[in-house]
Amino acid sequence: MSAGRRPDGGVARVRAPAKVNLRLRILAREESGYHQLETIFCALELCDALELRRGGEGVRLDVEGAELGPPEENLVCRAALAFYDAAGLTPAVRIRLVKEIPAGAGLGGGSSDAAATLRALNALHGAPLSRATLLRLGAALGSDVPFFLCDAPLALAWGRGERLLELPALPPAPALVVAPGFAIGTADAYRALDEHRRQPRRPPAEPAVLRPELLASWDAVASLAENDFEAPTYARFPLLAEIKAALQQAGARIALLSGSGSALFGIFPDAQHRTAAAAALHDRFPELCLLPTKTAPPA
Ligand code: C5P
Repeated sequence: MSAGRRPDGGVARVRAPAKVNLRLRILAREESGYHQLETIFCALELCDALELRRGGEGVRLDVEGAELGPPEENLVCRAALAFYDAAGLTPAVRIRLVKEIPAGAGLGGGSSDAAATLRALNALHGAPLSRATLLRLGAALGSDVPFFLCDAPLALAWGRGERLLELPALPPAPALVVAPGFAIGTADAYRALDEHRRQPRRPPAEPAVLRPELLASWDAVASLAENDFEAPTYARFPLLAEIKAALQQAGARIALLSGSGSALFGIFPDAQHRTAAAAALHDRFPELCLLPTKTAPPA
């Protein structure tokens, strides 16, 4: 997202928003093992913050607010190295990443950090890479990265998530992200989904027609809100099904697993319902991390 970007000589400060999937259908499994999907991405105000400072030797990453493992495996470092390689420049940047978005939760945090890194480095170096090249680098880093590169608050995506139709933003709505405190690996989630679908009598994805008006209001989007990861994930983690039921009981107009989990989210008709839902969830599940936020406004 461009909001918050302040290139200042050799320094850029950028925000990297979280996303939720308002709809996520997993379609054919490719021979490569990857899956084709159809999804509606929705950006949130919940975000990580990055500061990129040109200089030094190589790519140095300092992370605050989370334990993310070896920096060189972090998508931020991989994005920075991919940028320098494609631009034919010598890597020289220090990056400070302040994490607010829970990791391994299906909220796109790592992908958003990677997209913000690609965009900020391109801005800091006088835009040596075209938008098409950034999209190609982003898609190679992860399926959610192209959505964050395109800067839309809402988008319909298909393929592996790298084919996108930007949509007009819906009115910003109060949201509650519920993170259970454990991560679900994306590859594990896809394996569990494949296993679930191998069981007899599971019908394949039905044909579906999406009409533009179904993407133009929260009530209409609610009628499309589903996530194919829910059944296999709730079978493995029954707590997550209880959280979904609690969000629904508290008046969420959409209550869904985000991406391949582990976080769920609720979209509420107003802030009062969201506050009441957070109180009810906190009483019942005091160990959960509850993050009140909003869906992103128009760019
Ligand atoms: O995109 P990402 O690198 O996070 O994906 C991790 C794993 O999830 C992949 O290696 C693959 O096993 C699975 N995946 C998939 N289909 C997708 C995206 C991911 O099967 N569209």
